[in-house]
Amino acid sequence: MKAKILIARAVFPEVLERLSQHFEVEANQNDEPWSAEEMARRLHNKQGLFSSANERISAELIAACPQLKVIANMAVGFNNIDLEAATRAGIMVTNTPDVLNETTADFAWALLMAAARRVGESERWLRAGKWQRWRYDTFLGADLHGATLGILGMGRIGQAIARRSRGFDMQVLYHNRTRLPVALEAAASQAQYVGKEELLRRADHLILVLPYSAATHHAIGAAELALMKPTATLVNIARGGIVDDAALIAALRQRRLAAAGLDVFENEPAFHPDFLQLDNAVLTPHIGSASVPTRHAMAACAADNLIVALSGQIPPNLLNPQILQ
Ligand code: DGY
Repeated sequence: MKAKILIARAVFPEVLERLSQHFEVEANQNDEPWSAEEMARRLHNKQGLFSSANERISAELIAACPQLKVIANMAVGFNNIDLEAATRAGIMVTNTPDVLNETTADFAWALLMAAARRVGESERWLRAGKWQRWRYDTFLGADLHGATLGILGMGRIGQAIARRSRGFDMQVLYHNRTRLPVALEAAASQAQYVGKEELLRRADHLILVLPYSAATHHAIGAAELALMKPTATLVNIARGGIVDDAALIAALRQRRLAAAGLDVFENEPAFHPDFLQLDNAVLTPHIGSASVPTRHAMAACAADNLIVALSGQIPPNLLNPQILQ
């Protein structure tokens, strides 16, 4: 008998097709997000869940699904899942690391360049028919080349971002829970480890790449923003909640910070409406990993994890190996 799985959001047709060969599948191809109750109702008799970063997999949901054996999250981040509760219940949890490192690093640079060189703001101005003549001071921005790039959170995506700075001849500073081995620092454009405060004070451009958890909630708030240069750019491609959005809005509005490039927000997709009033913020809808090949690779990786785990083997990207003991 085939195991039963639930696919919580729409997926590529070939992934649906592949999973249907292995499992009895209930899929949400209409892509209407389900309420917690609806999710529990549909998941309670399933052995596997294919989720995105947008479903909250709480301890309550886990308790309501006694047959569940695997949660395969199609994201590298897994703060949407109560990992401890899943582990206590003996449920394997997997994510999709590595396949998105380079694409997400590319996008961090897209946001940084757009924010520092005022691409969104000047394009809106041009489209509004306001371009009458050349002026020496039209949309002056900040340089990237030769500047100091700060990276907060130096995992694999952070290192991929750092590598790209070579072409811009930048000095790279980083802060992380633990310092990287010297060989990895060298490969990451000779990145130099500094304390968080020094990072904030010295960076001309700061990119946030740290995972979200209770410990990193509002890691960038009013106090941290006050340490940054007024000419600096802040980029967040990590998770909403790492930045205190109200404090960031105040800093951008008062030009205590020059610009921000933001792909993630507190309470997204219902983000703070005041962001829309700020010309110095470039705003994108959580698309850091959204290239065609990478989203296909993430979906395939999540499907692999689910298939391997429900065949009784250890999936490649198991986040809670302690359950195997
Ligand atoms: C991730 O993989 O965590 C990205 O943010 C996509 O959700």
